[in-house]
Amino acid sequence: MRHLPSRPTRASRRRVLGALVAGLLCTAGTVVPAAAHAPAPPPAAGPRAANGLALTPPMGFNNWNSTHCRAEFDEEMVRGIADIFVEKGLKDAGYEYVNLDDCWAVPERDAEGKLVADPVRFPHGIKAVADYVHAKGLKLGIYTSAGTRTCDSVGIPGALGHEFSDARQFADWGVDYLKYDNCNNQGVDAKERYTTMRDALAATGRPIVYSICEWGENKPWEWAAELGNLWRTTGDINDSWGSMLSIMKQNLPLSAAAGPGHWNDPDMLEVGNGGMTDTEYRTHFSMWSVMAAPLLIGSDLRTASRETFDILSNEEVIAVDQDPLGKQGKVLSSEGGRWVVAKEMKDGSRAVALFNETGSPQRIATTAAAVGLPRASGYTVRDLWDHTTRNTAGGLSTTVPPHGTVLLRVAADRRWAAHPPGVELALEGSPLVEAGRTATLTTKATDLGRTPALTVSAALTGPSGWRVEAASPTRTAALPTGGALATRWRVTAPAGASPGGYDLALTAQYRSPTGERIRSAVAFRAHVVVPPPAGGGYLGDLPQLSASNGYGPVEKDTSNGESAAGDGHPLTIGGQVYAKGLGVHAASSVEYYAGGACDTVTAQVGVDDEKGSKGSVAFEIRADGRKAASTGVLTNAMAPQPLSADVTGAQVVRLVVTDGGDGVDSDHGDWGDLRITC
Ligand code: GLA
Repeated sequence: MRHLPSRPTRASRRRVLGALVAGLLCTAGTVVPAAAHAPAPPPAAGPRAANGLALTPPMGFNNWNSTHCRAEFDEEMVRGIADIFVEKGLKDAGYEYVNLDDCWAVPERDAEGKLVADPVRFPHGIKAVADYVHAKGLKLGIYTSAGTRTCDSVGIPGALGHEFSDARQFADWGVDYLKYDNCNNQGVDAKERYTTMRDALAATGRPIVYSICEWGENKPWEWAAELGNLWRTTGDINDSWGSMLSIMKQNLPLSAAAGPGHWNDPDMLEVGNGGMTDTEYRTHFSMWSVMAAPLLIGSDLRTASRETFDILSNEEVIAVDQDPLGKQGKVLSSEGGRWVVAKEMKDGSRAVALFNETGSPQRIATTAAAVGLPRASGYTVRDLWDHTTRNTAGGLSTTVPPHGTVLLRVAADRRWAAHPPGVELALEGSPLVEAGRTATLTTKATDLGRTPALTVSAALTGPSGWRVEAASPTRTAALPTGGALATRWRVTAPAGASPGGYDLALTAQYRSPTGERIRSAVAFRAHVVVPPPAGGGYLGDLPQLSASNGYGPVEKDTSNGESAAGDGHPLTIGGQVYAKGLGVHAASSVEYYAGGACDTVTAQVGVDDEKGSKGSVAFEIRADGRKAASTGVLTNAMAPQPLSADVTGAQVVRLVVTDGGDGVDSDHGDWGDLRITC
């Protein structure tokens, strides 16, 4: 053992984060409003950190997310990033701090108790790096832990007990920013440890941004504003959608604690690291900006894509983050994974994030009044990713792609009439189309503007091989405020199209009263469905329209093994084995297309025997949203229960398993001998 026992360890923190992410997965689909999880936030805008720094959230780079302690973290990388900040305009966009994370030093102090830079990574020492960075007009950040050693398994000496000499050393090198971590803290009170370093930094007389990194364990949002400029609110981020989403949801409720000089820190950016799509990275960057989070780039810019640069250097989004009023955005609604988050801006405008957490396109709607704008006859709406400006009479609504965010800046300014009206494109319902058969859909182009939309035309296109024909007019001479062009379309999916989701694009063209020509487009999703067989059969053998499950996939003809497809056992309830059916884990919902042709669904249901005496669930069968049958809470001690639902005329049958009211632990629900008659 090279160092004293760590508390908490990285592994234990990972477990906590894992559990959190898993918890999120099993409640997917039943989004609880963020406020329900929120710890009581402190009163608005606490005292400014005494150092007067970070009046807007810090912006810069940190190597950790891209390199961890690997060898490519070295002087060459740090210089390279500083060069790119200047050459690629990131410095002009506001990025300033170039920060070193863990592993910059050797594991032992020198004879005088001083920290020693790793001679392989930093052969010229830290001062030389600071000088290089300063010569570019940038600033240098460094890292250590409020413990005996840092977090990496090799680790470098921490500052606990050495606060004043280490801070002095950092100041002498020309360090401008300290990230102060929490590993190996020996159980010493957090507030005490972080206060000592605050005093040590102050004693150097050098302005040093102070970043408190205790992972939100002691609710730093309640006490750290007097100590540091930012404090981590969560465990570590990783480059995945689940991690980013979980951290966002933990940080959103803390808005009252943020303000100039003292910020919530939901951890560094993963944009560009490869584990998410560009749509997801735009969501990450949008939501961090709406949360007034520090923007610390975490990808190696020397190899970053054009798209990564485009995201990170979007100055209109950065302006949301860096707004001098320093407000963190607040959640207005989050029902069904459709989030509206609004941030008050210094000029009186609002930044509004319409964020779609779900896996399918969603219409997300709010209004100028709801986001806090004063009453006005018209408003200017700027789309910060599309870089277009429209006017609205007050409505703010659009269909947002899966995992996407539409980020708007909305103002009650007098010049709204100079901009074309906004026209919302929408699809009614979520269409189900049988391959080779024609379905009728209705689209709407609605004028949200205060001014009329002129010579409006709409066009719908499907994937290749699909036939789409208008069944009612696709044009109109003018739409007044609130007026809509509704068009019916006959849509035919090719015979043989495999079941599943397909994107349809609705495009509208129109003219503004000032003569500008506008074209806008939105993607929707249609599902190709297969009609149930005449007479019916085993429902589990039919294609699923949608499925969500607490752990792992919904299993056909076996129980739920919790992680991968095919990892279950024979469906067994109270010793009774079923060859056919479904094995699920609460919370679960599986939908099938019945096409109005079926009458009854039957099953033998219960908790699978594989979890011993644990687990309790409730079953429900829904027909087009109507509850057609349900059980009470069933436990592992109970024999299989017969369940029968009248689903006559239903288009969609939905099988639901909930947690029985006591959480999802061991909730393995079996739909034994599951049949539908048609
Ligand atoms: C902790 C921090 C991370 C990173 C690593 C370095 O996990 O939370 O941000 O600094 O330590 O080991």
